[in-house]
Amino acid sequence: MGASVGSLPRRWRPPLLTALLLRLGEGLCRSRPAAAGINAAGVRRWRERVELAKPLGTARQLRLAFASDLHAGRLTPTGTITAALEALREATPDLILLGGDFVCSRAQELELIADSLRRLQAPAGVFAVMGNHDHGADVGTITARLEGFGVSVLRNRGVRLAEPFANVLLVGLDDHLGGRPRPEAAPWDPRCATLLLMHQPSGLLDAGDRPFDLAFAGHTHGGQITLPGGWAPLAASGALSRRYPGGRYALPGERVLCVSAGVGNSLLPLRFGPRTEVLILDLVGAGAEAAKGDDDGAIVGAALTL
Ligand SMILES: [Fe+2]
Repeated sequence: MGASVGSLPRRWRPPLLTALLLRLGEGLCRSRPAAAGINAAGVRRWRERVELAKPLGTARQLRLAFASDLHAGRLTPTGTITAALEALREATPDLILLGGDFVCSRAQELELIADSLRRLQAPAGVFAVMGNHDHGADVGTITARLEGFGVSVLRNRGVRLAEPFANVLLVGLDDHLGGRPRPEAAPWDPRCATLLLMHQPSGLLDAGDRPFDLAFAGHTHGGQITLPGGWAPLAASGALSRRYPGGRYALPGERVLCVSAGVGNSLLPLRFGPRTEVLILDLVGAGAEAAKGDDDGAIVGAALTL
């Protein structure tokens, strides 16, 4: 943590007050009792199971791991991010999704976690969307570096996964506030088991009534600091952030939204209440039958940039 920050140029090193708050934040995290699903580094492994009435492909089940809001930089201990990404790897997922806000304020902060990002691998791929902080830093540089690490960045793009998950369509939208979401540019197919990856829950306003089954978002940090009564003075921007601050939500049309409290910090270098967390979700399909709709020329195999 401190050693990693110390490797940055002097102008990026945290001032004394920030450093003290970082220590306080780490102490608060450690002082709370261990609970089920929380590893030694204090990362909560949030587990869910979702059953769909559609086949996934020849496989009946897909395990995906989702992490968001890494916020590499002076407000988040690098060790916290490393531990969260390690928790993703330990889950041995078929698919890894990353929800954006990779950095705090500068694209160069990505280098703090480059080795951990490079080690992320999953048979069905590693995919990401950009968050508002990435847009505020340098989204072009961050995208290029992530692609170099083997992470595919989806900005208004869709990917049809390969077998045994060939009926799974993953759509990633650009951020609702910091980016230029263009849902009309992405492929949609109601026959597919469709996963929607977005940075923040307000991305639902962009997706509208387009067909998806399961959506993932971060951005809220679960409030990051919650006081007695649940009041979150740092509640994130976005029209739907207070409505969907974190957890699993049933949406109309038997759709599901999972909002993660994420990994890192924004504005202040500490969390109180919401833990750093990663989501491990087992997606169960309708049956092990062959993927449908492969013969109509739509969205098979490789990523589509539309
Ligand atoms: Fe964030």
